[in-house]
Amino acid sequence: MKAQQILSKMTLDEKIYHLVQMTTMTYLKADGTDIVTGPSSTMQLDKEYIYDVGTLLNLVGAQTMIDAQTNFLNHSKRKIPPIFMQDVIHGHRTLYPINLGVAASFDRQLAHDVAKMAAKEASLDGVSVAFAPMVDLVRDPRWGRVMESSGEDPYLNSEMAAATVKGFQGDMGKYNVAACVKHFAAYGGAEAGRDYNTVDMSERTLREYYLPSYKAAVDAGVKMLMTAFNIVDGVPCSGNKWLVNDVLRGEWGFDGVVISDYSAFEEMRNHGYCADRKECAYRAMEASADIEMMSPCYAHHLKELVEEGKITVEQIDKAVLRVLKLKEELGVFDNPYRSVDVEEAKRVQVGPEHRAIARYAAEQSAVLLKNDGILPLSKDIKSVAVIGPNADTGAIHGSWFCGGKIEETITVLEGVKNIVGDRAFYAKGCNIEYDSTDESMIDEAVELASKVDAVILCLGEHQDYSGEGNCRTNIEIPAVQYKLLDKILEVNKNTAVALFTGRPLAIWELDKKAPAILNMWMPGTEGGNACANLIFGNAVPSGKITMTFPRVLGQVPIYYNAYRTGRPKLEEDDFNRVRFTSSYLDMPNSPLYPFGYGLSYTEFEYSDFKLSQDTMNRGDTLVASVKVKNVGKYKAKEIVQLYIHDVVGSAVRPMKELKGFHKIELDVGEEKTVEFKITEEMLKYWNKEIKFVAESGKFEVFIGKDSTCKPYASFELI
Ligand code: BGC
Repeated sequence: MKAQQILSKMTLDEKIYHLVQMTTMTYLKADGTDIVTGPSSTMQLDKEYIYDVGTLLNLVGAQTMIDAQTNFLNHSKRKIPPIFMQDVIHGHRTLYPINLGVAASFDRQLAHDVAKMAAKEASLDGVSVAFAPMVDLVRDPRWGRVMESSGEDPYLNSEMAAATVKGFQGDMGKYNVAACVKHFAAYGGAEAGRDYNTVDMSERTLREYYLPSYKAAVDAGVKMLMTAFNIVDGVPCSGNKWLVNDVLRGEWGFDGVVISDYSAFEEMRNHGYCADRKECAYRAMEASADIEMMSPCYAHHLKELVEEGKITVEQIDKAVLRVLKLKEELGVFDNPYRSVDVEEAKRVQVGPEHRAIARYAAEQSAVLLKNDGILPLSKDIKSVAVIGPNADTGAIHGSWFCGGKIEETITVLEGVKNIVGDRAFYAKGCNIEYDSTDESMIDEAVELASKVDAVILCLGEHQDYSGEGNCRTNIEIPAVQYKLLDKILEVNKNTAVALFTGRPLAIWELDKKAPAILNMWMPGTEGGNACANLIFGNAVPSGKITMTFPRVLGQVPIYYNAYRTGRPKLEEDDFNRVRFTSSYLDMPNSPLYPFGYGLSYTEFEYSDFKLSQDTMNRGDTLVASVKVKNVGKYKAKEIVQLYIHDVVGSAVRPMKELKGFHKIELDVGEEKTVEFKITEEMLKYWNKEIKFVAESGKFEVFIGKDSTCKPYASFELI
C-alpha cells in the first residue's frame, strides 16, 4: 500500500505539516520567493516545511491548479502531491439552484445528477474534494446559510445527503471528487439565526433531528467530514471528543478524513474552551480531527505535545495515514494532476449539456406558492412586461457560486425574450438593496405595466443576502418593492410575482396582494430560462418547500415536526386568541406555507387511502397506499408524502414525521396507486434512555400533498 510506504518515510515534522491546509494562492509564485507572505505569513508557518503541507483549498481554474501543483512539486523535497479542495456547493462553473431549492424538488436522482455534473466540472479544474454536501438541519430563516441546506426534516435531509454524496463520488473515477459532508454537528441550530452563534440542545434533539443527515452521508460512503464552528454541549465541535471520536468514529465507524472548518481549531480560544493554540492542538488531536484548515495550532504545537508525551506519534500517524489513503484512492501518487484538463474544461463547463441539467434542476426546484389562475401565461400573449430589481440581472444564480459567473447567467428578461421575442419589455422599477427607499423608477415601470397584457414582477432578495455570514433580522421584502407592486396592480391585475430568495421570507402581505407567486429561490446559471419556461407553461411547477415559511418573523423558529405541548391550541389556523393555550395573542400558530407545500397548474385528487394491517408485529412490513389522479388540465408531477405520528412515547414524539415520499408524473386524467412500505425500523427513535428503539403502541398514518394532511388510519405496534 503506497500510503503506508510513504508514511514510513516521513519525518515527524513532515507528518505534522501534512495535516495543515493552506490556500492554493500561497503556491502560485513559480519562483517560490513569496511563499511566506499572505496567509502563510499570518500563520507563521516554518518556511522549511511549507512544501510539506498536505492539502490546499480554494481553487478555481485548471491552469491555476497546474501552476500551483508544478510549483509545489518543484520545491518539495518529499514530493507528496497536495490535493485541492473547493466549496462546490451548488455547482462549480455551471450553477444549479441553491440547495434549499434542489431539496424542494424532492428528487433524489436530481440531487445525484447535479452533484455528478459539478464533480465533472470541478475535477477538470483539478479539484479533488468538494466541501459539500452541507446537510445541517435548519429552522431559522434569519440564518444566511439555510440556502445551502435541504431544510428542516431529518429524513429528507438524509435522502438528499446520500444522493449528493453518491453523485459527487460515483465510483471515484476520473470525473468524480471526494465529498466532504459538513458542518458536524448541528451548525444549523445557531441561536437567533446568527452565524457562528451558540448551539445548545439536548442529546435527544441532537440525535433525533440533527445527526441523521451526517450519518446518512457516512453510510453512503462519504470520504471526508468537516467539523462545525459551533459548540455542542459546551464543547466546540473541532475539539469535541465525544462527538468526533466517540459518535462519528466509534458508533458510526467512520474512518475517513476529518477536517476543521476555516480556522476553527484556533477559534477554540475565542470560545473560551482552550487557553492557547497549544491546547487547541491537543483538544483537536484528542478528538481525532485530522486536517487543520487555515490556522497553525498543529504546525506550531504538535511536536511539542509529542515531546511532552501528551500526544503520541501513533495518533499523528493515524491522521496522516487517513489523508494519504484518500490521496491514494484519488490516484494522485500516480498522477498528481489527476483529471485537470484546460481544454476539456473549456468545452464541458457551462456547455449546452450542463446548461440543460441546470435548467431542468431550476424548473424542478421552483415552488408555485400562489396562483389565482393567471399562470401559466399564454405564449401567444401580445405584450408582456418584465419588471423589478431581479428582472434583468444575472445576480440570481445564488451565493457560494464558486467559479460561476453573473455574466453567464440567463436573466429573466432574456429567458422571457427567448420565448416571446420582442413582445417582452423591461423596466427596473426599484433597486434591490434591503434598505433602498428610492422610488424614482416606479412611475416608468407603472406606465409600462399599464400598456401590456401581463406583468412578470421579479421581486425578493439579492443573492448576497444569504450564504455564509449573511444573516438578517428582517426577512420581509423591502417596502419599496411593495410600493412598486401596489402601483402596478392598480394598472394591471394580470401580474405574477417571480420571487428570488435564498431563504423562506415572511411574505404574508405579498401573498394577500399578488395574484400569483412563483418562488424561484436563487435558480442558478439557467435561472432566467427556467423561470420563463414555468411562467409560459413549457414546464409545470412541482416543487414543495422543505423549510416552513412563517407569516411573520415573530413565529420563528417554526417547523412542522414539532412536539405537541401540554396545552396545544387545537385550531392552529385560528386567528382568535385562545388564552392559556400554547399560542399567540396576535397571530395564529400556523405558518404562511407549511413544509411540503407547493401548487401546480393542474389539480390532483387523492382517494382510496388504505393501510394493509392495523397491527404490526415486530419485523412486519405494512403497506400504506393511496390513489392519485390528475384531474386538471396539465400533465404534471406530484410529490406524494407519507407521515407517521407515534402517539405516545417514553419521550414525547413530534406531531408528525415525514417517513417517505414518491414523486410521480401523471398525464391529464391519469390515475396511479402510490404505495409506501412501513417497517419497524422507520418507527425507531431516541427514547428516554437515549436508545434507538421502536416502542409498542399506536401509530397514526397520513398521506397527502403537504404536511398539513390529516391522519387517515392507525396501527398498533405489538
Ligand atoms: C465555511 C465552510 C467552507 C470553508 C472553506 C468556511 O468559512 O464555513 O463551509 O467549506 O469556509 O471555504
